[in-house]
Amino acid sequence: MSTLTFEGVSLEYGTSGAIPVLDAINLGIRSDEFVAVIGRSGSGKTSLLNLAAGFLTPSKGRIAIDGTPVTKPGADRAVVFQDDALYPWLDARDNIAFPLRLRGTPEAERHRIADQLLAHVGLPGAGDKKIWELSGGMRQRVGIARALASKPQFLLLDEPLGALDALTREKLQSFLLNVWAESGAGVMLITHSIEEALFLGTRIVVLSPNPGRIAADIPVSFGRALLAGEQARTIKKYPEFQTLHDTLTDLIHDTRMDNAA
Ligand SMILES: Nc1ncnc2c1ncn2[C@@H]1O[C@H](COP(=O)(O)OP(=O)(O)OP(=O)(O)O)[C@@H](O)[C@H]1O
Ligand SMILES: [Mg+2]
Repeated sequence: MSTLTFEGVSLEYGTSGAIPVLDAINLGIRSDEFVAVIGRSGSGKTSLLNLAAGFLTPSKGRIAIDGTPVTKPGADRAVVFQDDALYPWLDARDNIAFPLRLRGTPEAERHRIADQLLAHVGLPGAGDKKIWELSGGMRQRVGIARALASKPQFLLLDEPLGALDALTREKLQSFLLNVWAESGAGVMLITHSIEEALFLGTRIVVLSPNPGRIAADIPVSFGRALLAGEQARTIKKYPEFQTLHDTLTDLIHDTRMDNAA
């Protein structure tokens, strides 16, 4: 079990003295957790993820995994963005195998692993497909398979389903939950959808803006019902689901008012 921690993390872009984008963030994410981060646009969600990824350095505080400071990107943390950044000149198999190629894994071995991952994400036999031959949902599956190729301890996902139609999105939500349950990697998922956060998270962290602070950190467990085969539309009718949905809507609405003041 590993833990990714934010310890008193603040972040300012550019000149000091401005309102920090993130302020005094304390947060721990264990590698058996699925932490969904929500908050209004501009509240600092992507900045938080970029800090965890090691793309950005905190202005104050530190980020660590099991006490070892995170100072740069590493194979222990894999990132997937909303717009898949797949390499169009490579087929699906070679896209997934790319991190292994960087590590010097021999071709036959990396192709074997890539084909396994393709099957794992529900795309068996798609290895030879060019990226432009894949639908948006398939591309996100390939992107997630590539992230899994380096066997990360943490998956950092920035609205990976945000650009998909409602039906594909719902399918991939169950898929993400299965990936999390089977991979043993901790997940930090940024989403705009309260429903998605409720379905997938074992915890929901709400960021309030200007400066970005943690307004709430709420344990949830609807994902377990979904994993056990319960229908999403049934879960949505649970009174606890509706109450939490209202609470989160109010929280995000309140932080919007703060921002306007
Ligand atoms: N590279 C940057 N340089 C300067 N300011 C930035 C940079 N990236 C983000 N910001 C600012 O930091 C704040 C938080 O941005 P961030 O992208 O983290 O928000 P977000 O919560 O992910 O928003 P969204 O939901 O729209 O994706 C915004 O005010 C944004 O303008
Ligand atoms: Mg963002």
